[in-house]
Amino acid sequence: MEADAEMRRLINAFNAMIERVETSFAHVNEFSSHVAHELKTPLAIIRGEVELALNETRDIAEYQRVLTVTVEEIDRLIRIIKDLLMLARLDFNPDVFRFEKINLKEFLAEIHEYTSILCEEKGVTSGLTVPDVDCFVRADRVHLRRLFLNLVHNAVKFTPAGGDIRINMAADGNDVRISVADTGAGIAPADMEKIFEKFFRAHDAKTTSGTSLGLSIARSIARAHQGRIDVQSSPGQGSTFTVSLPAAP
Ligand SMILES: Nc1ncnc2c1ncn2[C@@H]1O[C@H](COP(=O)(O)OP(=O)(O)O)[C@@H](O)[C@H]1O
Ligand SMILES: [Mg+2]
Repeated sequence: MEADAEMRRLINAFNAMIERVETSFAHVNEFSSHVAHELKTPLAIIRGEVELALNETRDIAEYQRVLTVTVEEIDRLIRIIKDLLMLARLDFNPDVFRFEKINLKEFLAEIHEYTSILCEEKGVTSGLTVPDVDCFVRADRVHLRRLFLNLVHNAVKFTPAGGDIRINMAADGNDVRISVADTGAGIAPADMEKIFEKFFRAHDAKTTSGTSLGLSIARSIARAHQGRIDVQSSPGQGSTFTVSLPAAP
């Protein structure tokens, strides 16, 4: 009887393991097909344009247009590949992080300065609110910058002229919370979790020049700092992305 129970336990453990392996394979499969699709689109555009240009003699202006499209699409391929390499490094190689103590007020002042330039170009207002006291985190400066720039780029991209983007910092003992709030397109409730997945876009691909890996990268960076990113949004009203990080003494 006891042997039976032991055997059943083993069988269950074995089945559970097989199930996990199958799920991992399914993920790898799905991921590969996303990557293939994302790389194929720019290549198809380049091929189509070049083939058309080769069909008959065109004027210089037309050749220039084709070459411009080609360069744009090649740049897009390079961006996708760079972001994929970045994600792989973030998720599988913790050695890439160089942690140091960072004064968040100073750090966010820099981020906001850059944000205000982007906002001005787009006819959007911006602001920064920080507490009186200094707050510190232990973080990798380069990656933390990348995290916030990804959030800021999205906020600017999805906020039409006349809108507003606000960076806000609040601290409560153990945690520091930094939010990037916009008054833009917003996100449907059903898409709220999916936007952090690789290659998911909640809006028309034409409106977004990005690689759709920005939020995956941002979330990986937050997690590598024992932190998290949350989003609140209502469609048509705007979105707020909040990064929580452990405060450094
Ligand atoms: N501030 C925002 N407002 C509205 N939608 C957003 C915002 N940030 C992200 N999203 C949605 O999440 C998707 C994924 O974002 P991201 O990973 O940065 O990819 P990308 O910017 O390249 O499209 C975007 O395509 C968009 O649909
Ligand atoms: Mg983005």
